[in-house]
Amino acid sequence: MINVNKLRSEFPILSREVNGKQLVYLDNGASSQKPKVVIDAISNAYSNEYSNVHRGLHYLSNLATDNYENVRSIVQKFLRAEHEEEIVFTSGTTEGINLAAYAWAMGHLKNDDEIILSIMEHHANIVPWHFLRERFGVKIKWVDCDASGNLDPQAIIDQFSDKTKLVAITHMSNVLGTVVDVKTICHEARKRGIVSLVDGSQAAVHMSVNVKDIGCDFYAITGHKLCGPSGSGAIYIKQEIQKTMRPFIGGGDMIKDVFTDKVIYNDPPMKFEAGTPGIVQTIGFGVALEYMMSIGMDNIETYESELTLYARQKLEGLNWLNIQGKPSKKGAIFAFTLEGSAHAHDISTILDKQGIAVRAGQHCAGPLMHHMGINASCRASFAFYNTKQEVDKLLSGLELARDLLS
Ligand SMILES: Cc1ncc(COP(=O)(O)O)c(C=O)c1O
Repeated sequence: MINVNKLRSEFPILSREVNGKQLVYLDNGASSQKPKVVIDAISNAYSNEYSNVHRGLHYLSNLATDNYENVRSIVQKFLRAEHEEEIVFTSGTTEGINLAAYAWAMGHLKNDDEIILSIMEHHANIVPWHFLRERFGVKIKWVDCDASGNLDPQAIIDQFSDKTKLVAITHMSNVLGTVVDVKTICHEARKRGIVSLVDGSQAAVHMSVNVKDIGCDFYAITGHKLCGPSGSGAIYIKQEIQKTMRPFIGGGDMIKDVFTDKVIYNDPPMKFEAGTPGIVQTIGFGVALEYMMSIGMDNIETYESELTLYARQKLEGLNWLNIQGKPSKKGAIFAFTLEGSAHAHDISTILDKQGIAVRAGQHCAGPLMHHMGINASCRASFAFYNTKQEVDKLLSGLELARDLLS
């Protein structure tokens, strides 16, 4: 069970005012707020325990290296990966998916090979695949969601052909909130020798993830949405796949030795991590994941399901509000416009004046927005520290926006 008032008190920013009103932070899909344990851990790492990692033999370097490397097993536990070495640190999901594209896909895909994507993907899980299309003539096959925003796993599986080499799918849409049955997709992909990548940026924040059960080859997460610092993240890469991958970026740390005529690469995961990493970001990321696991991802999911249901009951029935996507399995994300011609930016500005933070725009999901025929929408995205009272405040803010803009 979640004690939301206690949890809220652990996030200093949640008690501040914005525009003279109590902050209602509903932009968690873009980035979550940070609990004091994470802020303190960052401060402590810089104040008392900072040095570069993997380099020196002195006390602080060893301490920083231990603190940093310790996070690998925390992420392993969070994602329930089989091996710690399957966890590669990144600066976030964008870097993780680019890593998969450069270090795996570019070595395996050629002209006319196919990548399957859903129409709901974030640009981070689209643009790296366009690079392959542009450079190597790889084909991207798109699978639509239905009018409610459901993505039928069978519709994806039906697209698999002899030429399909990769299926790259979001676990939860950052616009519609749709939770995708990635397990069915990844298992069917594996049966056919197709590699699978899951974009877990949104889903990992709202539910417990088990990469072994999902059966994916890659699973990318981003630290700043998981109560951790920006510039932190990780990608799970199944061991067998790692063995077939080239390095990603080159530099220190990812090598065993360098000669004038050759390079001997380090073993994974170091092979995929070059240069001085985000040391303190990663340490803060580990503290954030431990914090979330101490609350319990199942508890978070249960609490948020109730909050989502409450919000759905309040918002979906309004005939002046267009909610984008009413999928049967939906996380705590609501994208909407007002009936009429009010622009999403104006709606969000009016909400902001009420202290309510939402996102407005395309949400880095161009193909989905084009598919839905809209240029922009507002998005309210909830976290485990949000409350039903905040849903009510959102509703009042929207009523005000409707009155002012109609
Ligand atoms: C579904 C999804 N994928 C990928 C990303 C990219 O994450 P990051 O910007 O942290 O790399 C986001 C962030 O908004 C997202 O929501």
